[in-house]
Amino acid sequence: MSKTISGFSKLSKSKKIDWIVETYFSSSHDAEHILKQYWNSDEKLQQLHDEFIENTITNYYLPFGVAPNFLINGKLYTIPMAIEESSVVAAASKAAKFWLDRGGFKTHVISTTKIGQVHLIYHGRKDALKDFFTSIKSKLIEDCKPITKNMELRGGGILDIELRDKTQNIKGYYQLHASFETLDAMGANFINSCLEQFAKTFKSEALLFNGFTEDEKNIHIVMSILSNYVPDCLVRAEVSCKVEDLSDSDAFSGEEFANKFLQAIQIAEIEPYRAVTHNKGIMNGIDAVVLATGNDFRAVEAGVHAYASRNGIYSSLTHAKIENGIFTFWLEIPLALGTVGGLTGLHPLVKLALDMLKKPSAKELMQIVAVAGLAQNFAALRSLTTTGIQQGHMKMHLMNILNQFNANDAEKAILIEHFKTNTVSFNAVADTLAHLRMRIDD
Ligand code: MEV
Repeated sequence: MSKTISGFSKLSKSKKIDWIVETYFSSSHDAEHILKQYWNSDEKLQQLHDEFIENTITNYYLPFGVAPNFLINGKLYTIPMAIEESSVVAAASKAAKFWLDRGGFKTHVISTTKIGQVHLIYHGRKDALKDFFTSIKSKLIEDCKPITKNMELRGGGILDIELRDKTQNIKGYYQLHASFETLDAMGANFINSCLEQFAKTFKSEALLFNGFTEDEKNIHIVMSILSNYVPDCLVRAEVSCKVEDLSDSDAFSGEEFANKFLQAIQIAEIEPYRAVTHNKGIMNGIDAVVLATGNDFRAVEAGVHAYASRNGIYSSLTHAKIENGIFTFWLEIPLALGTVGGLTGLHPLVKLALDMLKKPSAKELMQIVAVAGLAQNFAALRSLTTTGIQQGHMKMHLMNILNQFNANDAEKAILIEHFKTNTVSFNAVADTLAHLRMRIDD
């Protein structure tokens, strides 16, 4: 049985590893070596990573790749992607190249408003609460000035605060529902600090409000927190071309391709089982760029999937149409991203990723990320509706299978050549490698 431990966070990194090794691994296991081999020899860099979180014992690497040739609103980008899934960067690069020859991606930011809420309980008269809110609304904003001053100088800040009555859902439940413009910051800290100040002011001013009875003055604050649902922080990315230009092989015509592609989208629009996988493919592209640029992919994931369900059924995030012989394919998603603050100025690879994108504003980054999602979905649907997904996917996965069998460089070269014309599967790779090794032994 595992042991409990108190004061673990106070132990040195080596002592933490000792405890982990002692508690969870036999003496023959090389756990200590595995953990320590990921330590960076640059002590300052290692310390930076150690200090990102509590109880760091090592680093967890993900591949950092790039997908070049993305033409977005007439500007060329190479998009950085942090992801472990074999085929994602290859698919992005392929889609980028495809659309490079067909006018590239067109994007625009529709809106940039973010939301935060103070959740509170009040059991008094509704009118008294409304009067109180009206009387202190400007003070709620005024008391936040030390927090909002700099943001306001740059053109952002608190946009509005509403009192929302939620008593139909929960007895006594109201919200201060506030909207914010946080410019190039993702804004979580800014919004949460403002909300906590609203809560303080709300509670303390209630005690002084003459329009309340003594009981009504006792407002109970449940919590103050931003919302990761940002349906008014929206970006759109689109590609379009003549239907006939969609064909780039003799295997199918542009029209055949376009019709099948549209059917695939329609299925994802009405069928949640398919929509989830369809959108997962989109998130392959989105998360990879969000992660490479030091943004919060969990926030993005939560917000995007809520948006995908906004009409009461989980549905596709992408759409397509054919009008007057023109094929148009687009994506509209909510994205709360930052290009200042958080990891963006701290993590050397994140800084490099943002430099590679030419130091984008948050609005520009929203557009780049949306394009990565649209490109990924295009690549997935193109494979799914033509060759099937496994051909490309398994080709990219071949190296992982070879590594699983500890293939050496010579074996890898021979098998890569072999599988250029043969179907990749785990068993096929195992058999071919076994044969090769037998031949060499003979
Ligand atoms: C795999 O990671 C993503 C796909 O399943 C997406 C899709 O089915 O559209 C290929």
